[in-house]
Amino acid sequence: MCGILGYAGGREAAELLLEGLRRLEYRGYDSAGLCLVDGSGLQIRKCAGRIDNLAALVGREPVHGTTGISHTRWATHGEPTDANAHPHLDRSGKLALVHNGVIENYLELKRRLSDTGHTFSSQTDTEVLAHLIGDHYDRLPATRDRLLTAVRNALVEVTGTYGIAVVHADHPGEIVGARRGSPLVIGIGDGEFLLSSDVTALVAHTRDVIYLNDHDLVWIEGGSYQLTSLTQPQIDREVRKIEWDSSAAQRGEFAHFMLKEIFEQPASLENVMRGRLDWENCSAKLGGLNMTPRELREIDRILIVACGTALHAAMAAEYVIEELAHIPVEVDFASEARYRNSPLDARTLVLVVSQSGETADTLAAMREAQRKGLRALAICNVVGSTIARESDGGVYMHAGPEIGVAATKSFTSQLAIFVLLGLLLGRLRHLACPAGRDILDALKRLPGHVGEILDHSDAIRATANRYAGARDMLFLGRQANYPIALEGALKLKEISYIHAEAYPSAEIKHGVIALISPEFPTVIICPRDGVYEKNLSNLQEIKARKGPVIAIAHPDDTTAASMADDVLPVPETHPIVQPILNVVPLQLFAYHTAVALGRDVDKPRNLAKSVTVE
Ligand code: M6R
Repeated sequence: MCGILGYAGGREAAELLLEGLRRLEYRGYDSAGLCLVDGSGLQIRKCAGRIDNLAALVGREPVHGTTGISHTRWATHGEPTDANAHPHLDRSGKLALVHNGVIENYLELKRRLSDTGHTFSSQTDTEVLAHLIGDHYDRLPATRDRLLTAVRNALVEVTGTYGIAVVHADHPGEIVGARRGSPLVIGIGDGEFLLSSDVTALVAHTRDVIYLNDHDLVWIEGGSYQLTSLTQPQIDREVRKIEWDSSAAQRGEFAHFMLKEIFEQPASLENVMRGRLDWENCSAKLGGLNMTPRELREIDRILIVACGTALHAAMAAEYVIEELAHIPVEVDFASEARYRNSPLDARTLVLVVSQSGETADTLAAMREAQRKGLRALAICNVVGSTIARESDGGVYMHAGPEIGVAATKSFTSQLAIFVLLGLLLGRLRHLACPAGRDILDALKRLPGHVGEILDHSDAIRATANRYAGARDMLFLGRQANYPIALEGALKLKEISYIHAEAYPSAEIKHGVIALISPEFPTVIICPRDGVYEKNLSNLQEIKARKGPVIAIAHPDDTTAASMADDVLPVPETHPIVQPILNVVPLQLFAYHTAVALGRDVDKPRNLAKSVTVE
């Protein structure tokens, strides 16, 4: 969840690191720090708060050097204070470390090190790791690879997860990096090397990258790099090209990344469908699944695991795939699935969904399924991410970088992929060609329909402003629109901090209706589908108790409009595709509410974009 950036080359590193940290700030933003090595010792600057605070500190107390490491933190152990900010030093004060992850046996290691005279100035597990590496370093002879060996020896003793970058005052020009469970990427520039948790910080400098695997170590030294692992002295990893350029990760004229990404959805939906609509067979083409039609026909159960927004996409997929392909679908929280003894057999297809491709629980659930001998496919956005690399196949979202912490365009891309997958599986079974073609038609019109909703952004802002004073809100929907209601509630609570919950519409009578009052607004998703009348009944039940209602309904639906206090209109399309449209006004509603309340939309409190710790 933290961001790491290291640099070794010929340029002054301070500005470069600060600029890179700004690009990584979405990974965690409660404190930040950097350390430069210039041959005369370590120069460390670190403080609580955002990168702006660190930049101001560096402005007041400049640092110089052409090798350095830096970090933006999402606190796990210890509050976000100056002392707990990274980098952390070893006992000698000559070795500095930045870390993303959790050292699970840090208390045991800390006790042992304390017994031999080590004292600690922070509450972090990271400082313990710095001392442990330093302790090994002190016991090694002065060979050229002494720092690398010290890191390797220390990591053998560590339980937990880490992506780390280490420098030493006596090794200018050198950085040692290692990963287990937390991502780390090497950027290969012209006579320079970068090391980062995320390619976002690298694209301004190079497109050539190497993704490290778990247990890999990298030693950047003397203008070259060497790859090794905890188990092998020398390893090879492929150099890959990043396909997007740095402008794709810039905010442009938009006030926030979230708004930019909401408005990118017509394009991201075009991208996710490009080359995948199979008009000839009224089906979809998903070559990355790496499965033959025969293997796809043999699937008799699908288990989808994910977290957060991706889980909501999976929940919508349950309805879509069961409807189109008649295959039973089960959806589970990745954090639950990884520790569960769910009976799985060879005909069960395991699917994981993750925008970042780095979510710790999702990755662990996927590995657990693979360990049991099952095929695990992944739906990912970030190309080259750990989940994408380790899965047995899958589908890329091609949504481009998603920087706003609140997932938006990745969600609609995930929904579109599940419609394509349902269509493909359905057409390999009973689904007739005309039924398949109707879905393709709706998908083709989808980007234009999303554009129509975006045109209402100002009207949605006016509605959001009217409800921004609410303390709580309820979101309702039925069938595949129930997960859309969950997603609407999640978007609102995570960026506006208004408490929101979601239920299948009919569930309110089993308890929640007790909350309804003139101060408790409800958003109900009621497109003209098979359960339209049922939703209208629920709407009336809320109005009968004087609850304000915002309806997500079609522009010509005068019935819903006459019952609700406000309508956020959505074009009418095929019921299988309709949920993809229904979430867009909810994203805008959450966004405008958060802006009205003066929230930090792209960096909501306590959150980080990529949850790489368990
Ligand atoms: O990168 P992932 O899709 O695996 O992330 C899973 C969740 O952490 C994520 O969807 C989260 O719920 C959203 N950022 C919320 O908007």
